[in-house]
Amino acid sequence: MGNILVTGSAGQIGSELVPALRDLYGDNAVVAGWNRTPLPDEISAGPNVALDVTDFDAINKIVKNFDITSIFHMSSILSATAEAYRNTAHDVNINGTVNILESAYQNGIDKVILPSSIAAFGTKTPNAMTPNDTIQNPDTVYGISKVFGELIGNYYDSKLGLDVRGVRLPGVISWKTEPTAGTTDYAVAMFYEAIKKDFYECYLSPDTSLPMMYMPDAINSLIMLYQADYEDLIHHSDFNVHAMTFTPRELATEVTRINPKFEIDYKVDSVRQSIADSWPSSLEDSAAREEWGWKPHYSLRELAEDMYKNLVVKLS
Ligand code: SER
Repeated sequence: MGNILVTGSAGQIGSELVPALRDLYGDNAVVAGWNRTPLPDEISAGPNVALDVTDFDAINKIVKNFDITSIFHMSSILSATAEAYRNTAHDVNINGTVNILESAYQNGIDKVILPSSIAAFGTKTPNAMTPNDTIQNPDTVYGISKVFGELIGNYYDSKLGLDVRGVRLPGVISWKTEPTAGTTDYAVAMFYEAIKKDFYECYLSPDTSLPMMYMPDAINSLIMLYQADYEDLIHHSDFNVHAMTFTPRELATEVTRINPKFEIDYKVDSVRQSIADSWPSSLEDSAAREEWGWKPHYSLRELAEDMYKNLVVKLS
């Protein structure tokens, strides 16, 4: 077996995925690709490389030089940023994805993990218990790029024989690396502000219901799908995975249980509210459960307690 390349290693998910993969496959077997954001020390202690996914030749060189046989393609411009910087989002999310897949194909790579998102759905999609295979009509730049990723991933898989797999991640909550300008990130920000100021002004309305997941479950979903037997898969780049659904009001209740001084106010940001309103509130994920054994472990209460405890230490 050759080595694993993780793109976007300095990002919210990449920065936790790299250590998890190194624990499983060895420190030297996982190459952390990063672009502008510097890597955390823990990750830069192992193999790492500057990597701009919009540069096809650079990807090819890295794949050859580091003997890469699997890629976790985590770099992406998230929803709110993608609305503001359409061209960058196209370059990174669409051209970057094509570059990764084409390089993987040309270099005979074994497997590519290409995460999608709840953003791949839209207002015509059934909102609750969204089926795995249903109408997808996203009206955001980010969501459109994610549907493209699912379709092109499935194309490389079925037409060209490249093994491409992906989960549709919900909002991912974590304390190690802050996410950058997504729509679900209010849920992370609420913890930071509760600890720093006992107060948070939320940019989504109190009853906005969205699917969410704690980071250990998100990492687990990526690794479980990576390790699944190809023969067991009917779907490939487009698996729903669900853990929990909550609203800002419900999360605030949990945070107040831990920090009784916490208060929340709401000042709706129309761009992010309309993005959130176009996304499902929960996902039906039996395909992932049946094809590769997906199962989340954290409840909202467990997430809130673990998040709060770890952030208090981090921020002190
Ligand atoms: N967490 C992402 C966002 O809010 C959704 O995949 O942009």
